[in-house]
Amino acid sequence: MPTAVRVIMLGRQGAGKGTQCRLLSEHFGAPHISTGEMLRSAIRQDTVVGRAVKKVLDEGNLVEDDLMVSLVQGRIGETDARVGGYILDGFPRTVGQATAFDHITEVRPVDIVVNLEVKRELVLSRLSARRTCEQCDANYISDGNDPKPWKCAKCGGLVHQRDDDTPEAISHRLDLYDSLTSPLIDYYMSKSRLVVVDGLGTTEEVFERLTSAVKAAQA
Ligand code: AP5
Ligand code: MG
Repeated sequence: MPTAVRVIMLGRQGAGKGTQCRLLSEHFGAPHISTGEMLRSAIRQDTVVGRAVKKVLDEGNLVEDDLMVSLVQGRIGETDARVGGYILDGFPRTVGQATAFDHITEVRPVDIVVNLEVKRELVLSRLSARRTCEQCDANYISDGNDPKPWKCAKCGGLVHQRDDDTPEAISHRLDLYDSLTSPLIDYYMSKSRLVVVDGLGTTEEVFERLTSAVKAAQA
């Protein structure tokens, strides 16, 4: 039976967390748990949670810690994550979330926390060119000539620009990253669990660095 792998992926918006976590999930056979995708799916399905968080996401703000912790706690308790581990994308995002997560995972702690490093100036251009399937969250890159309508090659859903990928929301999300999420780098460094991985280069090059880092942490 394959060994479970438990990974937390940190990185500023547009660093490539979603892109790389999907690949790591396939490679290691552990579910990709993206809190952003969970919230967008709740919004699409118009659930109680979805209605409560829509405005927060559209404006690029953070959803409150208690709700996020309970969503993630429920998700990692499902069979696929208990057996295969998880590749956690977008959580924790505050020191409060990280502290709560440490308590929840005391028995089965994470193997590695990765900081996927890409500078703020570079993520801005990546995010403004990003287009996303509103049904399955697959990512595409716009060359400025978007087909209309743009159908997702994976599921046939409509490809659009995420509501929080406007210049104002991107800038606000990056500010929140600096003030609320970047302190997690010191938090995990002090626990000797942090590995910094350069997020520059092709998707394949970054993936190669990440798989080596995860394998080294498992050894
Ligand atoms: P979430 O969905 O997690 O968004 P995010 O953190 O803003 O991150 P992004 O998805 O924008 O970036 P990414 O790093 O995944 O980059 P990607 O791979 O797409 O969260 C959305 C919202 O939900 C939050 O703002 C908040 O409101 C709420 N939320 C979620 N979790 C929460 C929590 N824990 N607490 C509170 N609130 C929470 O790549 C970006 C682009 O770059 C793509 O177009 C991609 O194709 C391209 N790209 C990727 N890799 C490369 C490469 N190597 N070279 C060139 N281009 C590349
Ligand atoms: Mg993402």
